Amino acid sequence: MAEQLFFTSTDKSTRYAELLPQLEALIGSEQDPIANMANICAALKAASNWFWIGFYVVRGNELVLGPFQGPIACSRIGFGKGVCGTAWQTKQTQLVPDVAAFPGHIACSALSQSELVVPIFKDEQVWGVLDIDSTELATFDATDQYEIEKLMKWFAGLL
Ligand code: SME
Repeated sequence: MAEQLFFTSTDKSTRYAELLPQLEALIGSEQDPIANMANICAALKAASNWFWIGFYVVRGNELVLGPFQGPIACSRIGFGKGVCGTAWQTKQTQLVPDVAAFPGHIACSALSQSELVVPIFKDEQVWGVLDIDSTELATFDATDQYEIEKLMKWFAGLL
């Protein structure tokens, strides 16, 4: 396997286009979701300057923290709670330009200012979410949403 990821450009769309085939090579033949979640977090961290990137996985009536890159984080989030719990409840991606304006936002870190949370589906149920946080306002746009949703559909296909 490759020892590091390779990017030719600082252009966001180009970097996403270059990331996916490298991730496919890295994890495409691995079946274990923990290994794959861990490498997806590390790859997204290498490809970005995002503050926190991590998975929460549905366990009963809570989301439980999975593999992540970044500072320590909340271990459990209830159904419908915070941005992650809302993505679970609504089954919809949450693109939050300013977490201070999101009712019930859970501040694991006071530094986090904007978020993108994408639900992951298995058998039409939410299996978990990918949570990406930035220390700047309005970091994420429709391109990030499209590309991260595409990545999570691909990851879900490996579950
Ligand atoms: N901000 C999230 C909680 C998780 S952390 O930011 C890592 C939320 O409101 O769901």
